[in-house]
Amino acid sequence: MNVLVVGNGGREHALAWKLAQSPRADRVFVAPGNAGTAADAENVPLPVGEPDKLVHFARQNRVQLTVIGPEAPLAAGMVDRFVEAGLRVFGPSKAAAELEGSKVFCKKMLRQADVPTADGRIFDNPDDALAYLNDREDVPVVVKADGLAAGKGVIVCAHRAQAVAAVERIAVEREFGAAGDRLIIEERLDGQEASVLALTDGQTIVPLPPAQDHKPAYDGDTGPNTGGMGAYCPTPLVDDAMLHWIEEHVLVPTVHAMKRARRPFRGVLYAGLMMTRQGPKVLEYNVRFGDPECQPLLMRLKTDLLDLLEAVATGTLHEVGPLQWDPRPAVCVVMASEGYPGDYTKGPPIRGLEEAARLPDVKVFHAGTALDAQGRVVTAGGRVLDVTALGDSIALAKRNAYEGVKCIRWDGAWCRKDIADKALG
Ligand code: AMP
Ligand code: GLY
Repeated sequence: MNVLVVGNGGREHALAWKLAQSPRADRVFVAPGNAGTAADAENVPLPVGEPDKLVHFARQNRVQLTVIGPEAPLAAGMVDRFVEAGLRVFGPSKAAAELEGSKVFCKKMLRQADVPTADGRIFDNPDDALAYLNDREDVPVVVKADGLAAGKGVIVCAHRAQAVAAVERIAVEREFGAAGDRLIIEERLDGQEASVLALTDGQTIVPLPPAQDHKPAYDGDTGPNTGGMGAYCPTPLVDDAMLHWIEEHVLVPTVHAMKRARRPFRGVLYAGLMMTRQGPKVLEYNVRFGDPECQPLLMRLKTDLLDLLEAVATGTLHEVGPLQWDPRPAVCVVMASEGYPGDYTKGPPIRGLEEAARLPDVKVFHAGTALDAQGRVVTAGGRVLDVTALGDSIALAKRNAYEGVKCIRWDGAWCRKDIADKALG
């Protein structure tokens, strides 16, 4: 059958690469894709923000499953459009995607479902928020814009003055536009973060092995926040007993609460967790695969991804047997453009991709790349490549991933040197 993946990052490259390995896959399209998906699948020059054109394409090309990668089209209701057109699609409805699209909705849902999360207050105007900050003790807090803000709407504050400035940025200066119509001020939690993703068709829940992201730009978790500079899977931070606890106390009550709220959740539910001394607490939900967490996860997956995502889309996940995983861990190192996560340069040609492709147990997923007029692979984004490797241990997977990194060069390329070190310490 024909499959369409919507998106153009490393997550979508990994999805397309894995879907193309299915014996049931005929053509795998990626819209709009990047230079990597052009090699492992077929690119379709349609932007993510054009649901009508994507539905039309899917019909014309007998696409039997569409997989939507990023949150923006999910929050905008792309799944509903495909469903209305009678097309099979993997991802949550617009109503269910609010779990990521609105932090206020998410917080209310977490409370309703009695899922552990940071204590917080919701505000719909800056005055009340500022009065609240001034009335209470000066403790570390986190200020969050309600809506989608490309990961930038969360401001972690050590002192009241920072929190006041954060409220002003979000709700007065409106740095994130309508995303700042409402905001949350919540307690700052301490601990290590883990990403627990689960597939669900709204009835059956299948947790995936836990992963860990590296959000700060520089080594030692310093510098500004990014979309993620690397990830590994599984993480020893969440052992089997803990994963079971998270399933029972976080995933199951959330999926049930969404069903009760008549917003049944179908797709991949991604819990961003802080492992605190009082146990795991939910920092946020995402309604899609994590990027870059998806890359090491799929590198390890042995079960046919097409069967799996189709079962989610058709509500038959209970018929799928236990998932098969490569027992070896996987580590993904993100190579970025000079300047990222601020303004960055685009366009330098990338060298050494063929050399990296020859390394065993290494796969270079493309994120921000494009083909130039001469057919050369050039950089076209902040996060450019996701060099992902398997190894017999996390240390060996890390070594293999950095062997891949060493092959690749372009002007201004950089990466964190300490991906997965938290698992080794
Ligand atoms: P979020 O988008 O809500 O996951 O927030 C992005 C990042 O902000 C998280 O990955 C955490 O590093 C941090 N963060 C969010 N909420 C809190 C919290 N309550 N306490 C400490 N850090 C937080
Ligand atoms: N890696 C974090 C995210 O996908 O949101």
